[in-house]
Amino acid sequence: MKIILIGFMGAGKSSVGLLLAKKLGMEFIETDKLIEEWAGKSIDKIFKEDGEIEFRDLEIKTAEDLQEVDNAVISCGGGAVLNKIIIDYLKQKGVIIYLDTSYDEIKKRITSNKSRPLFQDKEKAKELYDFRKGLYERYADKVVKTDGKTAGEIAEEIFEKLKIS
Ligand code: S3P
Repeated sequence: MKIILIGFMGAGKSSVGLLLAKKLGMEFIETDKLIEEWAGKSIDKIFKEDGEIEFRDLEIKTAEDLQEVDNAVISCGGGAVLNKIIIDYLKQKGVIIYLDTSYDEIKKRITSNKSRPLFQDKEKAKELYDFRKGLYERYADKVVKTDGKTAGEIAEEIFEKLKIS
């Protein structure tokens, strides 16, 4: 099985994903890390030097490569829901979990936005948040609210939800 974590920047996908993978004895994969390795540069540099469209292409290619992966927790970039094909690739034999975090909490969590090109302008980021919320909800098999919870608590909650289903 694959566990796919989606949600906005700062929702905790990476820290929760790592803990959850450990709990489940699964591999942990971050699509952003794979993209950085493949491109040989940081996400920020990809955005600056090649542009967002190139980044989104790399996101699609990475998801395609992950189609056959099994027994893994996959943490996606916040924009993975923008291209439905990414979700289609990843959700095969997978459960999609949406880490639902309020915008106020996200603002608190993201203190350094250097590595997040789309969180430079808080007003624009809020627009993105409002637009994407519906997409995260649409693609989610399960939703976990994360406000005020630690990564460990969230991982535990997901673990319990997976046991029930
Ligand atoms: C993005 C989120 C980032 C990263 C890139 C674009 C987005 O990942 O993929 O900066 O469009 O929301 P995180 O959600 O892990 O910050």
